[in-house]
Amino acid sequence: MTHLYDGKMAAIFDAMYQTFIDYDEEYQFYNNLIKENNCTTILEIGSGTGNLAKRFQGNHQDYIGLDYSLSMIAIAKERNKNCTFIHGDMRQFELEKPVDSILITGRSTSYLITNDDVNSTFDSIYKNLNKDGIVIFDFIDANRFIPFAKENQVIIHEATFEGIKYYRNSNWKTTLSDNFMLEWTAQYYTFKDDEKEIIADDFSTVRVFTLNEIQLFLYLNNFEIIKTIDRKTYAYDTYVIVARKKQKIDS
Ligand SMILES: C[S@@+](CC[C@H](N)C(=O)[O-])C[C@H]1O[C@@H](n2cnc3c(N)ncnc32)[C@H](O)[C@@H]1O
Repeated sequence: MTHLYDGKMAAIFDAMYQTFIDYDEEYQFYNNLIKENNCTTILEIGSGTGNLAKRFQGNHQDYIGLDYSLSMIAIAKERNKNCTFIHGDMRQFELEKPVDSILITGRSTSYLITNDDVNSTFDSIYKNLNKDGIVIFDFIDANRFIPFAKENQVIIHEATFEGIKYYRNSNWKTTLSDNFMLEWTAQYYTFKDDEKEIIADDFSTVRVFTLNEIQLFLYLNNFEIIKTIDRKTYAYDTYVIVARKKQKIDS
């Protein structure tokens, strides 16, 4: 995992993503899945700048957030004064009390670069869920995204937030040396008096998954898939998986 939304990047992320993602719709979507599985307590991993937290808290739900980036947590806390956010790593965390449901949204699974990262994340999730607990997460579909990235190497996003127009030029380079990964570089800029002003450069390695890979990771970590949803998110074809913790069978 190479990417952290630190410092200025956290504020830029917050501004741009609120124009990419309809967080009311996002909340409804995930909350429906939580409700249909009768879950009460919720942990959101990669809670970012607290946009879903705001909706969960607004509806008086038993929610906590966890994120690796202190800058993202600082913005989330500012937005949600009475909400608990834990500074932690999804690959290894321990809650005070297990929860009924764990969410990973916004394709934060893309930062799980190695198979060890993925296995240790599912292992931590398993240990922090109640009996029959549910994990709900999305991931970018490699089968659709890799051909898309090969054909569209520069992708431009434009967003206006609080009167400021932001642009992002993203470049994707496929690298197959380890898993299905992409090297992503992005340049963020605004226009001031018709002058282009670069506000940030960003670089990260992101991983995309095939559905079969995810099915196998879940099987190996004692989860049973109960729902697979094909869902288009703002720029990516993603799958959302709902999986239930199974009893471990001693071998
Ligand atoms: C693309 S953002 C999504 C944020 C939020 N879910 C949303 O949709 O607005 C990814 C988030 O995952 C966090 N993250 C990345 N790796 C992590 C890790 N190993 N453990 C916990 N959080 C992590 C980042 O700091 C960032 O806040």
